[in-house]
Amino acid sequence: MKIVIADKSHIVYADSICKTIEDAAQVRGTGIAKRQPDYIISKMKNGNAVIALEGDQFAGFCYIEAWGHGKFVANSGLIVHPNFRKQGLAKKIKKVIFEHSRSKFPNAKVFSITTGLAVMKMNSALGYKPVTFSELTDDQSFWDGCQTCKNYDVLQRTEQKMCLCTGMLYDPSQKMTAETANQKIDKKVWTRLKNIKQSMFLKKENW
Ligand SMILES: CC(C)(COP(=O)(O)OP(=O)(O)OC[C@H]1O[C@@H](n2cnc3c(N)ncnc32)[C@H](O)[C@@H]1OP(=O)(O)O)[C@@H](O)C(=O)NCCC(=O)NCCS
Repeated sequence: MKIVIADKSHIVYADSICKTIEDAAQVRGTGIAKRQPDYIISKMKNGNAVIALEGDQFAGFCYIEAWGHGKFVANSGLIVHPNFRKQGLAKKIKKVIFEHSRSKFPNAKVFSITTGLAVMKMNSALGYKPVTFSELTDDQSFWDGCQTCKNYDVLQRTEQKMCLCTGMLYDPSQKMTAETANQKIDKKVWTRLKNIKQSMFLKKENW
């Protein structure tokens, strides 16, 4: 398995990446913002994405987005092809994209919003902490990206203060202590929080 910074030689994979993201969104039934091939291609051309390949087969992908004039960056669109899941590939991709983001944007805060336990675990291992949305970027174009998520009405109803996603932040100005580095996501607590949010925010017909 090869995990590399994507470039224009990887443009041929843009359609499969978008299709895999779309299929995953349907299976999960939760919001993953939809991506267009042109957007994925621009990330590859600008050296702002990581791709995993097994031979010439697409195995996984993730890209960097910068917000608020580079004060914040997000590692978005993480996807592992179903044939390569549960083998630690997402963890490796997240590490490579995180380190790449840190070297390209050393002063930026790195953030993530997610409903997925897997992503929460990986973020935690990299030193992200759960935060309220008010600590994330106020760049409206980031939040506008949630419009294609099926839970967008929740974000609107709460005036962007909260949603089903949990916000997580890595702040480079706050050094990781041994205590925070070992922080693990507790699956029971996380599942309970998710259930509480769903009962608060989702209309009954969406259940
Ligand atoms: C989520 C996804 C990226 C995980 O990829 P993967 O290569 O199978 O993940 P890994 O094998 O590297 O596992 C990383 C960690 O997440 C956990 N994990 C993986 N899939 C999980 C799942 N469905 N539910 C809960 N935890 C999961 C693993 O146990 C591992 O945790 P550990 O370090 O405690 O062992 C992949 O399932 C996927 O592409 N899903 C669809 C798209 C998606 O949900 N993207 C995230 C958008 S927010």
